[in-house]
Amino acid sequence: MNSLISSANGSMPLHWLFPTPVMQVDLTPDDGIAAAMHQQLEVFDRDVFGDPQFSNRNNLTGDLLGIAGLDQLHRMEAFVWLNHQIAEQVSLYLIDLLGPDHGLEVHIQKAWPVVCSPDGGTIESHTHRNAQLSAVFYVCTEEDPGSGELEFQAPDTYFSHVMAIPFREATVSGGVFAPKQHRLLLFPSDLRHRVLPYEGGVPRYSVSYDLAVTTAPGQGREMLTPHPMDWVPLGGFSST
Ligand SMILES: [Fe+2]
Repeated sequence: MNSLISSANGSMPLHWLFPTPVMQVDLTPDDGIAAAMHQQLEVFDRDVFGDPQFSNRNNLTGDLLGIAGLDQLHRMEAFVWLNHQIAEQVSLYLIDLLGPDHGLEVHIQKAWPVVCSPDGGTIESHTHRNAQLSAVFYVCTEEDPGSGELEFQAPDTYFSHVMAIPFREATVSGGVFAPKQHRLLLFPSDLRHRVLPYEGGVPRYSVSYDLAVTTAPGQGREMLTPHPMDWVPLGGFSST
């Protein structure tokens, strides 16, 4: 985004702060890997959408339904390739932001399937407060659907709530990413986002990952989350 905004009067001295790093990259799984991931999403779609308690929804998200294992896709053989791809892209992302000596480690907290039905499926605005980085990979979507975009929204707590200006509308410009088969998006987890209504000939299948960023074991630093190996369960101490 330009740091100075052009206007009819020339350049206005507006400096836009707080850029948001969102990574978008198109991956190229081979046919077998792509088919294995697609098959897992189809199973989820069929088995869970087919359940009467969920059949009237226009979306399904594995982590919300509270069914055991549906937020652990990364442990399945079909998603090992994607785990590696995300590791590679997260490394590039962190190096770009922090330099090669950032000393951080990244962990998969959970990964879950998301289905948007082809007749207007949406995901309402939300953040992933449990994580630091989140990823979305599109397993299957209509080609050029012109719908079902992921829209990132500017934080509305800076000043738009005390000033009657369309700050949010201004900053959301450029924050809409079209779904595309085998496209990966990586973004800060506290960035609010939603899926706009999807229309297509096929369901929109994606997989979401939540990642935790920590120091290396034994390398804790102020204001950074230590590596989980440095943690001790509080309930693990005996009383004697
Ligand atoms: Fe999300």
